[in-house]
Amino acid sequence: MLYPELFKSLERVRWNMETDIPWAEFDAARLSDEQALTVKMNAITEWAALPATEMFLRDFAHDSDFSAFMSVWFFEEQKHALVLMEYLRRFRPELVPSEEELHAVRFPFDSAPPMETLMLHFCGEVRLNHWYRRAAEWHTEPVIKHIYATISRDEARHGGAYLQYMKHFLAEKEKGEAAAAAFAKVGFLMASAGRAGKPLHPTNLHVNEALFPRDTVQSRLPDPEWLPRWLDQQICFDAEWEGRVQSMILKNLSLLFGENFASTRDLNRYRKQIAAA
Ligand SMILES: [Fe+2]
Ligand SMILES: [Fe+2]
Repeated sequence: MLYPELFKSLERVRWNMETDIPWAEFDAARLSDEQALTVKMNAITEWAALPATEMFLRDFAHDSDFSAFMSVWFFEEQKHALVLMEYLRRFRPELVPSEEELHAVRFPFDSAPPMETLMLHFCGEVRLNHWYRRAAEWHTEPVIKHIYATISRDEARHGGAYLQYMKHFLAEKEKGEAAAAAFAKVGFLMASAGRAGKPLHPTNLHVNEALFPRDTVQSRLPDPEWLPRWLDQQICFDAEWEGRVQSMILKNLSLLFGENFASTRDLNRYRKQIAAA
């Protein structure tokens, strides 16, 4: 079981919303309307951890260890939504998402192979860590800069926790090989996101055939066009940042498989190898 140790390690670094966020340093002159609006969209997107948790608990019903860990992950993700909403409540109350806006991102996700979903979320945490680090740089108001830096570190730790589970599943008798194939397949897709022309993250993937096209989290936001604007025109998540996401995924997969993936091409070659085996 990984849950007891993961609980302890995440508990040790847990931050307090009341005392660890420097609320008193708020500087109204350094927050623009467009910046404040992005906080609202990020708050709603974080709220989508709710349907993601429902999906994980369903697809990992056979695995009580991983399901128990979901309690920590779910708590921390909802706290991300909450700290962003608390910021708005204090300083831009007119932008606090309504309960309806939050509830709109709660919809059932189709089931998918659990190992693929796990890998997808691992890559999603890596990507979100980088998005939030960039957001922390882009914002000019000190309190929200601090909040994005804080939650970006949580996302990195979530990636680390998922990685521990991936290691654990790889070592499982009989199931290990199928897990390896799933990790390599989804890892290759996620690391190639730059080429696909759209950043792949769990919140902009289609996850419910019956609801298509309104079956991505982004499509259910008050402004479905917001994400590409945030990335391209606001936080300016450029090729260099995209490259950092990619190399972080390749580095972790190299460690996981005991290989050396210098590029997505190497990973693709390995993916084909294990798929054939
Ligand atoms: Fe989060
Ligand atoms: Fe996360």
